[in-house]
Amino acid sequence: MSTRGVIGTGVAIWALALSLSVRAHPGPAIAAAAPHPVAKTRPAVPPASVAPKPAERAKTEPIPPSNADCLACHGDGSAVRADGRPVVVKPEAFEHSVHGPLSCVDCHQDLAKGIEFPHPEKLAKVDCSTCHPDSVAKYKEGVHARERAKGSIEAARCVDCHGMHDIKPKSDPESRTYHLNIAATCTKCHGDADVIRKGGIPSDVTKLFADSIHGLALSKSGLVVAPTCSDCHSAHDVRRRDDPNSHVSKMHVPATCGRCHEGISNQFNAGAHGMALAKGNTGAPTCQTCHTAHGIQRAETASWQLSVIGQCGTCHLDRIATFRDTFHGQVTNLGFRTVASCADCHGAHEMLPASDPRSPISKARLVATCGKCHPNASENFVKYDPHADKHRRAGNPVLYFTARFMTILLAGVFGFFGLHTTMWFMKELHVRRARRRRAGEPVAVHGARSGEGTDGRDR
Ligand code: HEC
Ligand code: HEC
Ligand code: HEC
Ligand code: HEC
Ligand code: HEC
Ligand code: HEC
Ligand code: HEC
Ligand code: HEC
Ligand code: HEC
Ligand code: HEC
Ligand code: HEC
Repeated sequence: MSTRGVIGTGVAIWALALSLSVRAHPGPAIAAAAPHPVAKTRPAVPPASVAPKPAERAKTEPIPPSNADCLACHGDGSAVRADGRPVVVKPEAFEHSVHGPLSCVDCHQDLAKGIEFPHPEKLAKVDCSTCHPDSVAKYKEGVHARERAKGSIEAARCVDCHGMHDIKPKSDPESRTYHLNIAATCTKCHGDADVIRKGGIPSDVTKLFADSIHGLALSKSGLVVAPTCSDCHSAHDVRRRDDPNSHVSKMHVPATCGRCHEGISNQFNAGAHGMALAKGNTGAPTCQTCHTAHGIQRAETASWQLSVIGQCGTCHLDRIATFRDTFHGQVTNLGFRTVASCADCHGAHEMLPASDPRSPISKARLVATCGKCHPNASENFVKYDPHADKHRRAGNPVLYFTARFMTILLAGVFGFFGLHTTMWFMKELHVRRARRRRAGEPVAVHGARSGEGTDGRDR
């Protein structure tokens, strides 16, 4: 059935239910349901004063029960389970919910055909798919439904995210699924240590999210265009991060973030990282590799920018090693952000090789790239190689031999002074001993066994 068909059916049922309920209960009949006004409003039954309770009436008269019939017992908490717990439906809340115009038995369909009261203790589970087939189909593909099917009692059902009889449309600021409330709806479980442990949830990501640029944009700035959990994970088709069809799988993240950060995902896709990823190279980074998924910070944050250098280095091992040898690398390593980081020379998203004329490290653009910070940069200045490898003779013979020479010099100097100091020490020891012996003092010999070496005799 098409979405329009479903909504059409839904609206038709709603309209029908509305007309029925208007006929059956003039005014706020549901709210006024208690105590047991059932029969008052029913044309086919005797006047209110002699109206039988549904339990008595249904035996003789198998017609579909009205909402007031149900609320006669459920509206005021008079219906209780065997263990004494009341089984309540708040009439006000139901009436003001999105399903208010529906009849109870539209959902509780096993009671729709007219039934004897008291009805059976166990009733069939409500099937939302009769009216919301798309949402239900997507939900069934997701991790929550799959874990439920495997026996989980912690994974989310419709009622956990939407409520039961008080469901509001997502456009209503009181709704659990209103944009600014969704994070709290998911956090109820994903931020609860007990549910995390019992439900086998990988980790608590909710605190990271709350303090992130996105989380603060929602909670502090009230920014309705900032993403909440369902923007990245979807509402119903929520899948594990390692499921290839997940909205947050490595391959799909650029498109997921790119729904809002379109310009950046275009740049990313055009660069070596995006192209490698598109070819199925899972060794390539994606947005959350550098930004994290939930603890995303403002890109200007110096500490984050410094940490990205290390992140680049997890894949480009040789490049970070040579970078660390340079002035830029040592200063950033000390925690100062004033000098060049990888992204200052390479750009952050459109990663291109030096051979590509569009690349900021191409011959044509290098003067401008260094010139951002070195205003006097010239063709000559940029001959300085920011990745000069002192261990590779072929690429940089001068640096290689200089580094070799420096190493030999350093080893020679340390070796000479080491030897010199050792010999000096031994001579000093010898002189001291001789001096003590001359003065008649006992000479302590290092490592002497007991009874030995304390008599002052030289051995
Ligand atoms: C005569 C009083 C009475 C009326 C009328 C009544 N119920 Fe109930 N209902 C109960 C009681 C009592 C229970 C608790 C059963 C138990 O667990 O022992 C209950 C339980 C339920 C449950 C929970 C079933 C389960 O599987 O846990 C649902 C759903 C329900 N009623 C729906 C309805 C609907 C819909 C109507 C109207 C068509 C209705 N009831 C009318 C007394 C009533
Ligand atoms: C939009 C669908 C929907 C409508 C309409 C609806 N219910 Fe329910 N009801 C549910 C769902 C879902 C549950 C949870 C149990 C389940 O999944 O079957 C439930 C559970 C109940 C329970 C058991 C509550 C408990 O605490 O265990 C009662 C009683 C009940 N409904 C009565 C009613 C009454 C009375 C009305 C009409 C005023 C009504 N329902 C209308 C969907 C609906
Ligand atoms: C993990 C939480 C969660 C679960 C479980 C869940 N929903 Fe939703 N649902 C949401 C959120 C969040 C939205 C709002 C999505 C948005 O803002 O676009 C939503 C929206 C909806 C909508 C409005 C139409 C739409 O897609 O925007 C319907 C209808 C709906 N859900 C029905 C259901 C049904 C039926 C189930 C059970 C099969 C269910 N939901 C399970 C979170 C959930
Ligand atoms: C008999 C048909 C029917 C059944 C069954 C039904 N609904 Fe609905 N539902 C509607 C109608 C009609 C609307 C209002 C029109 C709309 O927004 O689609 C609605 C709206 C909603 C919305 C609000 C959509 C929005 O705009 O955010 C949610 C959420 C929802 N239903 C969830 C459920 C859940 C969960 C169940 C099962 C427990 C359920 N419905 C069962 C008919 C139904
Ligand atoms: C900006 C997009 C985005 C938002 C918003 C977001 N997530 Fe995620 N989430 C991701 C990505 C991407 C991953 C995959 C991380 C990975 O592969 O390491 C993920 C992974 C997860 C996981 C898997 C466990 C883990 O430790 O990685 C859970 C659970 C999760 N998110 C829940 C949530 C909840 C709950 C919220 C809302 C409070 C939320 N997410 C908000 C993008 C997002
Ligand atoms: C009623 C509790 C509950 C609610 C509410 C809930 N979840 Fe979950 N969620 C779970 C449980 C339990 C799992 C299953 C973990 C498992 O078995 O691996 C899970 C799994 C997940 C996973 C997969 C984690 C992985 O292994 O990669 C994601 C992502 C996720 N939920 C996101 C959400 C989002 C987004 C929302 C809100 C729209 C939400 N959840 C609401 C309980 C809940
Ligand atoms: C290889 C690491 C890396 C990857 C992958 C990456 N980013 Fe970035 N991103 C950065 C760095 C570094 C900056 C800071 C640039 C600067 O110095 O201004 C940044 C900045 C940003 C900014 C702020 C705007 C700006 O340019 O200052 C946004 C938004 C952003 N990235 C989103 C994304 C999205 C979306 C993706 C995935 C399509 C992504 N990033 C992939 C490293 C990365
Ligand atoms: C629903 C839209 C939306 C989605 C999806 C989204 N973002 Fe954002 N993002 C925003 C908005 C809006 C801001 C600005 C918040 C602010 O400035 O307060 C932002 C800010 C950022 C920033 C900081 C930018 C800066 O100027 O410093 C980064 C980095 C970022 N997002 C990365 C990501 C990544 C990575 C993903 C995917 C995992 C993602 N975003 C998904 C809307 C989105
Ligand atoms: C998760 C691993 C990973 C991370 C993190 C990463 N890269 Fe890459 N990088 C790759 C892969 C894979 C390629 C593609 C190599 C290819 O196409 O042969 C690549 C390509 C490049 C290229 C183009 C070189 C070429 O040979 O085409 C540059 C420049 C580059 N990365 C710089 C960076 C910078 C700067 C950072 C940090 C901001 C970074 N990378 C972070 C894996 C990574
Ligand atoms: C001061 C500017 C500068 C900084 C900082 C810098 N690079 Fe480079 N990078 C260059 C230049 C210029 C080249 C081209 C010459 C070369 O290959 O040595 C290059 C080459 C590369 C290449 C090979 C590109 C190709 O065409 O094959 C990679 C990968 C790379 N750098 C990664 C990094 C990483 C990772 C960092 C940070 C740890 C970093 N760079 C820091 C300027 C810089
Ligand atoms: C983000 C700014 C920035 C970029 C881009 C940058 N540098 Fe630097 N670099 C600095 C700062 C700051 C210093 C230390 C202050 C100084 O000496 O000017 C420095 C120091 C140096 C030094 C050692 C000190 C000296 O002046 O002799 C060299 C050599 C150097 N840079 C070369 C380059 C080259 C070549 C490029 C381009 C491939 C480049 N830098 C790109 C910021 C940058």
